[in-house]
This record gives sequence, structure tokens and C-alpha cells, in this order.
Amino acid sequence: MHVREGDIILLYRSLKRKFVVKVEKGRDIHTDLGVIRLSNVIGLPYGSRVKTHLGEEFILLKPSILDAVYIGFKRKTQVIYPKDAAYIILTASVSSGSRVVEAGTGSGCLTAILAYLVKPTGRVYSYEVREEFLEVAKENLNSVGLLDYVELKLKDIRKGIDEDQIDAVILDLPDPWNVVEHARKCLRSGGVLVAFLPTINQIERTSIVLRDLGFIDICVVELLLREYRVERDSTRPKTLMVGHTGYIVSARRP
Ligand SMILES: C[S@@+](CC[C@H](N)C(=O)[O-])C[C@H]1O[C@@H](n2cnc3c(N)ncnc32)[C@H](O)[C@@H]1O
Repeated sequence: MHVREGDIILLYRSLKRKFVVKVEKGRDIHTDLGVIRLSNVIGLPYGSRVKTHLGEEFILLKPSILDAVYIGFKRKTQVIYPKDAAYIILTASVSSGSRVVEAGTGSGCLTAILAYLVKPTGRVYSYEVREEFLEVAKENLNSVGLLDYVELKLKDIRKGIDEDQIDAVILDLPDPWNVVEHARKCLRSGGVLVAFLPTINQIERTSIVLRDLGFIDICVVELLLREYRVERDSTRPKTLMVGHTGYIVSARRP
């Protein structure tokens, strides 16, 4: 397969030096190892090596959804970490055709992952209270061709959820306990609510409201991800790790 104008590509040099860009004639990518002319990559097969004006090589690849979101997206808010997103989508059982309500949209990182999974027949209804974040999310989703599967809504989700017969409600906002009643009304039987929260106090409050409103299968987890450094005869965990992102509570509507 060959690179065409308008493609989103990954320019890979190393774990720490990767660029996700849209191929546009006349556009240059400035790296610390020199400039790459995107006009020169049009027509090259994926897997090719391209050189900067200083002769430094990058490999031309198709980006994964992880690359596209976590390297390519503009970030204007705190975003969900991949380890947490992975658990959330599995717990919420999101797949092609799912109808998912999400809040808040933020930079649209989780929205994009959800849209990637629900397409082509499903839909993500994403609520956000701040217009400036919705604009960024819109731009991000559009840049990877996922906007068609998302309805971006400028609305405080605590005021109600407009949709019904929803498969999953996913919340990344400070006070999900104020949304549980609305979620109960919009979820289909067996539908799942998942909330991501940074503090245990928020988790406790949300869990108690979930229990009081009749949700079942309430489960709280924290995921710790440890990266490894691989060296012959000395492979071991990296010295530094992200010690805390947040907790996740999930529950089902009977
Ligand atoms: C941490 S960010 C979400 C990040 C997003 N999950 C991502 O991965 O890009 C939280 C967002 O929730 C929005 N928010 C907070 N309360 C809200 C509410 N009641 N209804 C809708 N959005 C809300 C905030 O404006 C903020 O953009």
C-alpha cells in the first residue's frame, strides 16, 4: 500500500521519537533530526525509510489508533491513559454497533477510541460543558476520520441524557454520582456504567449512589502499569513509573 495525499502517517524513529501527521503537499515536518518534506513521501510504499534534510532516517508506517490518539491529538485537558481506556472499553463491552454515551468529551481521546470501536453502525454521544474543548475534540476526531460516528453535544450531562436504549455510559468528570439517575434511565437492561475518578472519595460516593439506585455487579479497580527496560542479562522494570492515574468503578443496570 502506498501513501496518498490526505493519509495520516506515522514517522517512526524510536520509542521516544514518533510523529503522526496528515500528508499534505508542500508541508514540512520539523524534527530535532532535520526537516522531512511531506511532498516527498506521497507515492512511497508503507514501510519505506524517509530521510530528513540532514540524512537522518525515519520509517513510514500507518499509525495505530493508539499512535493517532496519543501522539497525534492536541490536548487541552487531562486525558484518559491507554491502560485505563483499555479496561473501560472491555468492561463496557463496546464493539461495532454499540450506542455509547460519554461525558466529558475533554480533548476527545476516549471519544476517538470509542468511535473507532463502534463504527460503522454504532454511535458515540459525547457531552461536554465547555465549548472550547468541544472544538478541540472536533478537530482531533476529524483529523483521524472518526467524526462521523460521534455526536458532540454542548450540554451539562447532569441536566439529563437525551438518548435511550444505550449500551454503555462512560463518565470521566468530577461528580458522576450526579449522573447515575440519568444513566439508569437511558441504559438498556444489562447496560453498563463506567466512571473514571482520581480520588477514592469520589469512587466511594459514586459506588454508594450506584448501589442505592439498584445497579448491580459494582466493581472498583485500580490499574498499575509498569514498563520494562530490555537489555541483555539486565532486563528489569524502568526506575520511574506513573504511580497514579485514577480508579475505575463499573456497574450494570439490571
Ligand atoms: C478529564 S476531562 C475528560 C478527558 C477525556 N476523557 C479525554 O480522554 O480526552 C473532563 C471533562 O469533563 C468536562 N465536564 C465536567 N463536568 C461536566 C458535565 N457535568 N457535563 C459534561 N462535561 C463535563 C470538563 O469540561 C472536561 O472537559
